[in-house]
Amino acid sequence: MTKILEKLYWALGLSVALVAVTMYALHGKMLHDPNQMQTFILAKAVWLHVISGILWIGLLWYFNFVQIPTMPKIPAELKPAIGKFIAPEALFWFRWSALATVVTGALVAYLKGYLVPALTFAGPVTIGVGMWLALIMAANVWFIIWPNQKKALGIVPVKNDAEKAAAARLAMLTSRVNFVLSLPMLYCMVAQNIAG
Ligand code: HEM
Repeated sequence: MTKILEKLYWALGLSVALVAVTMYALHGKMLHDPNQMQTFILAKAVWLHVISGILWIGLLWYFNFVQIPTMPKIPAELKPAIGKFIAPEALFWFRWSALATVVTGALVAYLKGYLVPALTFAGPVTIGVGMWLALIMAANVWFIIWPNQKKALGIVPVKNDAEKAAAARLAMLTSRVNFVLSLPMLYCMVAQNIAG
C-alpha cells in the first residue's frame, strides 16, 4: 500500500477507482433508466466541474495565502528553488485547471439548459453573475498572469530587470484581483442551487 501512496499517479488511480465504485454503488441503477440518464451524466459533470474548480481556486489561494506573502522572507540563495521548480509546476496545474473549470462549468450550464440565458442574464441571474466572474478570472489567468509570470520566471526573455520586476508585480496584482473575485464567484456557484 505504501508503494501506491508514494507515487502520486498511482494514488490518483486508486482514488479514481474508488470514485467509480462509489458512483456505481450509489447511482448505478440510474444507468438502466433512460429517464434518469441525463441526471446521472449531470452529476458526473458537476463532480468534474467542482474538482477542477477546487484545483484552480486551491492554487489561487495557495499563491495568495502562502507563496506571495512568504517570498520576501525567503533568503536570496533559496529563492531560485521557488522560481525554478515550485512556481512553474504550480502554474501548470493552475492554468489548465482554470480552463477545465470553464469547460466543465459550461457543460453543466448546457446540461441544465441555461448556458446562453444565464450568460445573457435572460435566465438564472445568480449563476450568470458567477459565470461572468469566473470567466473574467480565467481570462486574467491566461492573458495576464501566465504571460507575465513567464517573464518573471525567466521562461521567456526580457529586455532588463525592470521589465522582469514590472511583470512580476502585474502578475501578483492580477492574482490578488482574482482572489478578491473568488469569494463572490463561489457564493454564486453554491447559492444558485439553494436560493436561485
Ligand atoms: C467560467 C467558469 C465557471 C462556470 C461556467 C461555472 C458554471 C457552473 C454551473 C452552471 C453550476 C450549476 C449551478 C446550479 O444550477 O446549481 C455551477 C455550480 C458550481 N460551481 Fe461553477 N462555474 C465556473 C467556475 C467555478 C469555479 C472556479 C468553482 C470553484 C470551485 C466552481 C464551483 C462550483 C460549485 C461548488 C458548484 C455547486 C455545485 C452544486 O451545488 O451542485 N465553479 N457552476
